[in-house]
Amino acid sequence: MTTFKQRIFSGVQPSGNLTLGNYLGAIRNWVALQKSYESIFCVVDLHAITVWQDPEVLRNATREVAAGMIASGIDPKECIIFNQSQVPAHAELAWIFNCVARIGWLNRMTQFKEKAGKNREGASSGLYVYPNLMAADIMIYKATHVPVGEDQKQHLELTRDIAQKFNNDYGVDFFPIVEPLIFGEATRVMSLRDGTAKMSKSDPSENSRINLTDDRDVIAKKIRKAKTDSEPIPETLTELKDRPEAQNLINIFAALSDRTALDVCTQYGGMGFATFKNDLAELSASVLGPITEEMKKLCDERSYVDQILKEGSQKAREMSEPILKDIYNIVGFLQS
Ligand code: TYM
Repeated sequence: MTTFKQRIFSGVQPSGNLTLGNYLGAIRNWVALQKSYESIFCVVDLHAITVWQDPEVLRNATREVAAGMIASGIDPKECIIFNQSQVPAHAELAWIFNCVARIGWLNRMTQFKEKAGKNREGASSGLYVYPNLMAADIMIYKATHVPVGEDQKQHLELTRDIAQKFNNDYGVDFFPIVEPLIFGEATRVMSLRDGTAKMSKSDPSENSRINLTDDRDVIAKKIRKAKTDSEPIPETLTELKDRPEAQNLINIFAALSDRTALDVCTQYGGMGFATFKNDLAELSASVLGPITEEMKKLCDERSYVDQILKEGSQKAREMSEPILKDIYNIVGFLQS
């Protein structure tokens, strides 16, 4: 009997620096899961160009994101790491999913609304059908689980709908219905300047986020400047509820120290933010410092990262091609 290790797929866009949000919401969880699942991690360059990217910057960011994954502890010997554009089956399945997903479904996607902003007519059509490509990324490997941050939940619900509709339309039981894996104390890391907005690589304010490339002094400065309120740190989670900035910093502290938010509140409850912020800066630098250093080393050794991506793409092509063939067969494409 063959034992089947369940398969995870996840991705990060190379559209800017990796942030603390990417690390705590996603990459750290991937590291924790990589031994228990067959793991495929992708630098999603096709997704990145839904908003124009300078080609040279995109090339560097692709290497940097791959280096960031490896520096964070993703083991290229255990997992497949590659960049999306090198495996054509993603785009090929995405076309089929463009024909399965309904326009009404895409119209409900909040990320499109946020990213397109007021100028929807001026957004690329790629940005609009982006979730179909995301569903294809996952389904082209028949992945069963997808570890992501909270913000990707709606896209994964759409992925389930697409898989279900494909199975129904063609009368097959082909695609698995994926399970999101969203866990940890910081599933939604918020901006350091506004506790109601997500920490994001595209926020114009550098002070809103911690980048994995930031050094100790920059991290300390950003945390010192982080917005808080004038109340002391509470002792219970209920009292944190309407204090988004305080809650965010507590969650970040908890996630970085592998503790619960309640535990952190118990330690700092009743105190002002000054000591807490000093400790948080220290903690952040001690967790992120070694990752940043390793990432820099890896980025200097371009050929090492390029080789990992090359081998990863090769493996991903080998995995995806037979699945695409089956899909073409189900859909009725005559194959020569
Ligand atoms: P992206 O590049 O925006 O983010 C990559 C991962 O980081 C998580 N994340 C966060 N988690 C917590 N707090 C935050 N502030 C934060 N910011 C980002 C995201 O949830 C994500 O897990 N569409 C995806 C990339 C993608 C993908 C896929 C993911 C393409 N195909 C297939 C999973 C499966 C995206 O734009 O992620």
